[in-house]
Amino acid sequence: VSGGLAVGYEEQREVIELLFRHPIALIASALGPPPAWMIEQGRAHGVKVAALAGTVEHARRHVAAGVDIVVAQGYEAGGHTGEISTMVLVPEVVDAVAPVPVLAAGGIANGRQLTASLALGAQGVWTGSLWLTTEEAETHPVVKEKFLRARSGDTLRSRSKTGKPARMLKSAWTEAWDDPANPDPLPMPLQPRLVREAEARIARTAHKSPGAEQLINYFVGQVVGSLNEVSSVRSVVASLVQEYADTMERLDAWAEGEG
Ligand SMILES: Cc1cc2nc3c(=O)[nH]c(=O)nc-3n(C[C@H](O)[C@H](O)[C@H](O)COP(=O)(O)O)c2cc1C
Repeated sequence: VSGGLAVGYEEQREVIELLFRHPIALIASALGPPPAWMIEQGRAHGVKVAALAGTVEHARRHVAAGVDIVVAQGYEAGGHTGEISTMVLVPEVVDAVAPVPVLAAGGIANGRQLTASLALGAQGVWTGSLWLTTEEAETHPVVKEKFLRARSGDTLRSRSKTGKPARMLKSAWTEAWDDPANPDPLPMPLQPRLVREAEARIARTAHKSPGAEQLINYFVGQVVGSLNEVSSVRSVVASLVQEYADTMERLDAWAEGEG
């Protein structure tokens, strides 16, 4: 953890301590190992503490810090993400931190991907993008429409929103930040401060201004290519479960020589 991130946790300590006064079951650290006081408070309140890892080294540091669960999150994921694919990362992390449980993340949006994650040694999955096109999602309506039309190649990792590489939908916004003629994004935490007002303005006007419509985007993973219709969270969960059961049945049939 860099000094900057450690300071970040101290700045947010009040908010994190407030969370522990609510009946939460899990708290996860996205950028760096959780500090000792977060682990201690998790134990004291019966709250599991997880942390996201994009490399085996991250995972080892999280376990040394005392986390209960490691989330091994691959390159495909929406949001801040590293450079190793879920397929490669998950078994490496599972082996490195056993017996600490691992959840697979990044690129999981259907029951076959869920079943594959279990085959890689994960005890469960951790998903993000999948929920962004549900009826219940608070995704900006213009962004939701873009997600429904997007293909899996329509995302990229960009430092343009937070200052750290995060996967998001390509748009005129990411093109402008990638243009060598323009300045580079600032490091975290300055970039979010720099772009906050512009992002708010774009979101307010995206439904009526063609310029803002082209600029608007949001964090999303490569699975955006398979998010092609709006459905309820209930039906997404039901399809994950059904496809998991069907896949296991298919694999069992193969194992028994019937496939
Ligand atoms: C819109 C969005 C916002 C996210 N914000 C956070 C966050 O604040 N903290 C965090 O730990 N992970 C965040 N993530 C990453 C998710 O926790 C999760 O690891 C990731 O979405 C899994 O990959 P998937 O998008 O392919 O499902 C975010 C992901 C998305 C898509």
